Amino acid sequence: MTNAIETTGIHKSFGDHTVLRGIDIAVASGTIYSLLGPNGAGKTTMVNILSTLAVADSGTARVAGYDVVGQADAVRAAIGVTGQFAAVDGRLTGAENLRLMADLHHYGRKDGRRRTAQLLEQFDLEAAAKKPASTYSGGMRRRLDIAMTLVGEPRVIFLDEPTTGLDPRSRRAMWQVIRDLVADGVTIFLTTQYLEEADQLADRIAVLDTGVIVAEGTPDELKRLVPGGHISLQFGEHDQLVAAAKTFGEVARDDDAMTLQLPSDGGVRSLRAVLDGLDRESITVEGLSIHTPDLDDVFLALTGRPRAEKENQK
Ligand SMILES: Nc1ncnc2c1ncn2[C@@H]1O[C@H](COP(=O)(O)OP(=O)(O)OP(=O)(O)O)[C@@H](O)[C@H]1O
Ligand SMILES: [Mg+2]
Repeated sequence: MTNAIETTGIHKSFGDHTVLRGIDIAVASGTIYSLLGPNGAGKTTMVNILSTLAVADSGTARVAGYDVVGQADAVRAAIGVTGQFAAVDGRLTGAENLRLMADLHHYGRKDGRRRTAQLLEQFDLEAAAKKPASTYSGGMRRRLDIAMTLVGEPRVIFLDEPTTGLDPRSRRAMWQVIRDLVADGVTIFLTTQYLEEADQLADRIAVLDTGVIVAEGTPDELKRLVPGGHISLQFGEHDQLVAAAKTFGEVARDDDAMTLQLPSDGGVRSLRAVLDGLDRESITVEGLSIHTPDLDDVFLALTGRPRAEKENQK
């Protein structure tokens, strides 16, 4: 598989403030790659470098096969960028915003109208098409913004925090939009502060913290880096708890709650071992639950801090 995005050793400073300290990433074509990090981590800076809006101090980056510095025009022709702050013009209607983009992409009058109509339908904006964008809700504005990015049919799309500030329902709708785009074969580079979002959407995730990537992998790989997975057994009878503790060891036993927690990677094999043990000793449990570590645990384990952006999340 070819890579839609490839970088080596990207550094970027503003004055004496170093923002990126050697970023190496590779994004396979047709996948979603998520750059995850708190406020000020350097996400937008990275998007700006990859989309030719800023130049790195050192290192190389290729997007859609072209060098972002030496072949910036070819990169720009291949990509779409939806910035962190919407590029929508509030004085124009949704349809007018889209037609403006079609003009910028040198669509003829007829093709421009056709593409505009197509996108209004795809993004569920037909009813609002003739209203000024200033009257749109946050979610509608975001959808229009992404629709504008798609006018030129880009093969690689950068989405910088596409769901920040959206309510849960609009966020889910946006996730579906993103999934549909990838199903059409485009590559998506998505920044987010939301661990759950990266977990839901991304094929691979890079965790950015103070200018370096502190972890990279599939969501499952990242979760496996982190201890904390366990199987929790709930007992109805105290003697059953005692028997289980004898069988599995005295780890995390709570006599008041009548639970026993057994370390586990959350995988099927460790679950089977527990069930076999219960069977063999004829121990009765009332309930069993599996806790696999989530990306919150990952961030804490990798950076030694709980994710700071939590207070911003609604
Ligand atoms: N043009 C600039 N001049 C000076 N400093 C900048 C500039 N652009 C970004 N920075 C600084 O670089 C750091 C990283 O900023 P960046 O916008 O890349 O973070 P981010 O991860 O996108 O954060 P957020 O989640 O808040 O959008 C910040 O400390 C910011 O103040
Ligand atoms: Mg940003």
